Parts: sequence; C-alpha cells; structure tokens
Amino acid sequence: MVPSRSSAYIAVEKRQSGDMRNNLFKKEHRKLFMFWLIILLVCLVLAVLIILFIVLPLVVKYSFSIQQKIVFTHGYADSSKGTLTEARVVNDCKQLYSWIRNKTQANIYVWGQSLGSSLAANTVLQVEKDGLQPKGLILESAFTSFEDELYVHPYGKIFAWLPWFYVTVVKPLRENGFIFDTSSYLKKIKCSVMILHAQDDSVVPYRFGRKLYEISSNRTGTAATSIYHEFDASLEYNHYFIYQDPFLKYYIMQFIGKNISLVPVKVL
Ligand SMILES: *[C@@H]1O[C@H](CO)[C@@H](O)[C@H](O)[C@H]1NC(C)=O
Ligand SMILES: *[C@@H]1O[C@H](CO)[C@@H](O)[C@H](O)[C@H]1NC(C)=O
Ligand SMILES: *[C@@H]1O[C@H](CO)[C@@H](O)[C@H](O)[C@H]1NC(C)=O
Repeated sequence: MVPSRSSAYIAVEKRQSGDMRNNLFKKEHRKLFMFWLIILLVCLVLAVLIILFIVLPLVVKYSFSIQQKIVFTHGYADSSKGTLTEARVVNDCKQLYSWIRNKTQANIYVWGQSLGSSLAANTVLQVEKDGLQPKGLILESAFTSFEDELYVHPYGKIFAWLPWFYVTVVKPLRENGFIFDTSSYLKKIKCSVMILHAQDDSVVPYRFGRKLYEISSNRTGTAATSIYHEFDASLEYNHYFIYQDPFLKYYIMQFIGKNISLVPVKVL
C-alpha cells in the first residue's frame, strides 16, 4: 500500500527528530564521558597521593612494628613499657642470659635471626664484657648494620632513592637508638661464630653474610673459630626457612664441637 503524503511527511519528520535525538545523545554522551574521565583522573591523582603520603609510610611503620613485636617476644614481655631502643632490648637479653647462666653450668650458645642477629651479637658483646663468656654465637640471615640494611630492605628501597633519605630516616633512627651495627659488635666478640645465609635471601642479601664471615675470620686475639654456611638459591630458603635444612643439625654439631666426621657431604 502506498503511504499517503501526510504519513510520509510524518515518517521523515520522525527520522529527522530521531537524528536530532541521536546528535543530542552523542553530545550528552560526550559530556558525560568527559565528566567521568575527569572524575577518573581526579580519583587517580587522589589514589597516587594517598599511596605516596599515607599507605607507604604506614607500610614502613608497620614493617618496623612487626620487628618490634618479634623483639619483644624474644626478650621480656614486660619490657614493652617505655620507648624501644636497642640498648633497652639488649639489656633485657643480658638479664635473660644472666638468668640462664645462674641455672646451668652448660655451654651457652646465642642464636639470632635477621634483626635478632644484631641483638644477639650485641648481647654477646655485653655479656663478654661482664666476664660471662658464651661458647658461641650463631648469626642467621644477618645484616652488617641497620643502616646498610635500610638501603636494601624491600620497604626501605622504596624511599632510599630520595635525596633526603639519610637525614629523614637513617639519621633519626640512629639517634633514637636504632643502631644495630652488627659488624662493629662482631669485631670485638671473642667467642666462636657460625654464620648462616641463603643465597636467595630477598630481605638481607647474602653478601652481608659473606662480609660478616670475613669480619669474623679477621678477628685477632682469639682462638675462636668462624664458620660460614651459604645455602644454594635452588633450596629456596630465602630469609626465613634455613631452619628447614636437613643438614643444619650436622652444622650445629660441628660448631659445638661434637664428632665432626658426622657431617655428611652436601650434594646440591
Ligand atoms: C645471677 O647471679 C649473680 C650472682 O649471684 C647475680 O648477681 C645476678 O643478679 C643473677 N642474675 C639473675 C638474672 O638472677
Ligand atoms: C680482612 O683482612 C684482610 C687481610 O688483612 C683485608 O684485606 C680485608 O679487608 C679484611 N676484611 C674486613 C671485612 O675487615
Ligand atoms: C667420630 O666418629 C667416628 C665414626 O663414627 C669414629 O670412628 C671416631 O672415633 C669419632 N671421633 C671422636 C673424637 O669421637
């Protein structure tokens, strides 16, 4: 059926108004698009600012507070009052050592891991000064100094490139009693030292373990031994899992002077 003129006209008009609507919609759409784009950009900028100024500092703060908790559980729980300084924690460890010394005549070995290895070294240095000679010191996944570690720690690295990192982070920590200068403690220690480090340690690089071994071996005026065990990266012990090594008990036996021929040949 042929449409009447008027109905054809209406159809054209409808199509035109449809186009107009489309155009209008496109304009609206574009405006809306720009609006959301701006909102998105503002959100992005805000997110970056929040991450830079709130999240990252919190992460750094939290990472330190985890270590403080470890320190406290290894020391005395009631020492959590007052501010945390290395000297305070080492003093707690000294008390603990003295308490154990009073309980037994057996040889005492001090073992520290990560940040704890620095506390262990400092504790050994302090008790040696008091004439309470321990038999040996074991440093597991240890760093040479807190300052060296700050520049390579996964959280420290985020900020270490900043030009004022030393003044705003390293120096204030040092001034607030975070010294943990394992290298200099080790130089003055008289007892035997065993150092354990995994090649794939992602928190404390194993070159620190090697350096500590060098320092320990260089000690003069002591007949004490220095032993270093480096665990192959393929074992995937990283920073925390050296204790899982099946040969560790033999290394300990060798270190404490038990029958050394028990130590089997390690096949990597
Ligand atoms: C261990 O014994 C000595 C000497 O008797 C004493 O001075 C010291 O306070 C004791 N240490 C602890 C933690 O009880
Ligand atoms: C250890 O001693 C050697 C030889 O005296 C020296 O070259 C090296 O720098 C010393 N290493 C450390 C870490 O003191
Ligand atoms: C060590 O062990 C080996 C074999 O088990 C034995 O022949 C040797 O006498 C032991 N040495 C000492 C000092 O106990």
